Amino acid sequence: MASTIDPSVSDMIGREDVDDIEAILSVSNTDVDELLHAVHSNYDTVFSWDYEKGSRPKLDRLYEKAKSSMWNAQTDLPWDTEVDQEKLVVEQQLMMGPPLHTLVDLSGTPLAKWGEKEWIQFGVEGQNWTLSQFMHGEQGALVCTAKVVESVPWIDAKYYGSTQVMDEARHVEVFSKYLDEKLSGHYPINAHLRLLLDDIIADSRWDMTFLGMQIMVEGLALAAFGFMHSMTQEPLLRQLLRYVMSDEARHVAFGVLALQDYYAELGNTEIRERQEFAFEAAVRMRDRFLQQEVWDRMGVSPKDVIPLTIAAPDRRQFQVMLFSKIVPNLKKLGLLDAGDGWLRERFTELGAIQFENWEDTAEEYAAFQLAEGEKPQQAEPQTA
Ligand SMILES: [Fe+2]
Ligand SMILES: [Fe+2]
Repeated sequence: MASTIDPSVSDMIGREDVDDIEAILSVSNTDVDELLHAVHSNYDTVFSWDYEKGSRPKLDRLYEKAKSSMWNAQTDLPWDTEVDQEKLVVEQQLMMGPPLHTLVDLSGTPLAKWGEKEWIQFGVEGQNWTLSQFMHGEQGALVCTAKVVESVPWIDAKYYGSTQVMDEARHVEVFSKYLDEKLSGHYPINAHLRLLLDDIIADSRWDMTFLGMQIMVEGLALAAFGFMHSMTQEPLLRQLLRYVMSDEARHVAFGVLALQDYYAELGNTEIRERQEFAFEAAVRMRDRFLQQEVWDRMGVSPKDVIPLTIAAPDRRQFQVMLFSKIVPNLKKLGLLDAGDGWLRERFTELGAIQFENWEDTAEEYAAFQLAEGEKPQQAEPQTA
């Protein structure tokens, strides 16, 4: 993998070598007890007096679809399912393929002394961490979508966006409930994820919120939820992820449909800014998956072990897979090849260009819809 990058990019991501582990790990959450986090943003709230519903037919269709796809986080999931987290971790580790210590020489490192107990505990912490970051990312989506409803100029997009606000509230709710009732502890937001959410929410341009959230964060979430869904046998988590994914695919489609026309009108300089923003988001999201806080909690210095873990082949594969939804959508938006193909080069360096011809989510979202048998049973309305 090529790793040195041009100066404009190194300024943006704060380092010259995209794989500089020490620089990545130096960004950490220093206020883990923070309860409220305020971000100043400066953007126009836009009213539209053009109420013609359906003037953007694809967005209108998405809105109608969303209204009939709502589910209830409290009543439509089997919350009485017993979850044995350790058993779940062992099953998952088996499905993930050979364990790290059989792939990488750990002698002379703090991990050399680890036995089965420590590896299981590491898996448990990793799961608490992953679900916690999903929860924080979902709150980011909730807040960003509320902003989108305010700032997008088209009535069909305001209507659709309002359904997404409701969807995201439900997603925060299910991950938070699952963590509280079925797992064994929360993690604060990862510093890389927080920097990214701050950038997305603070930007004054409505389309940057779309690009950052709908295309980048949600595109990655869709791939990560899909991966977890395929790796777990736990029925509650499977169903929860299935429901969330059916919503997320609609959200990513919203991003693609809303931005496609808009980007066709932008000039070269503006497009380049969007390309850079997309790349910065990609790097920040990749950085967070190093799970540095999990190593800290296990009492091992991340600096000592992360260089070993990222060398493992399954790790690289997982990182690359995270971009499987993002790259085709960026291509559909014209961002991959615009200008001199700057963003294509960046994704080639990240090793993720092979997804460019996969189906984009504007086309694919229908495949994620819940089938008849999967839909929640609607309760009969109560009559007085
Ligand atoms: Fe979501
Ligand atoms: Fe979403």
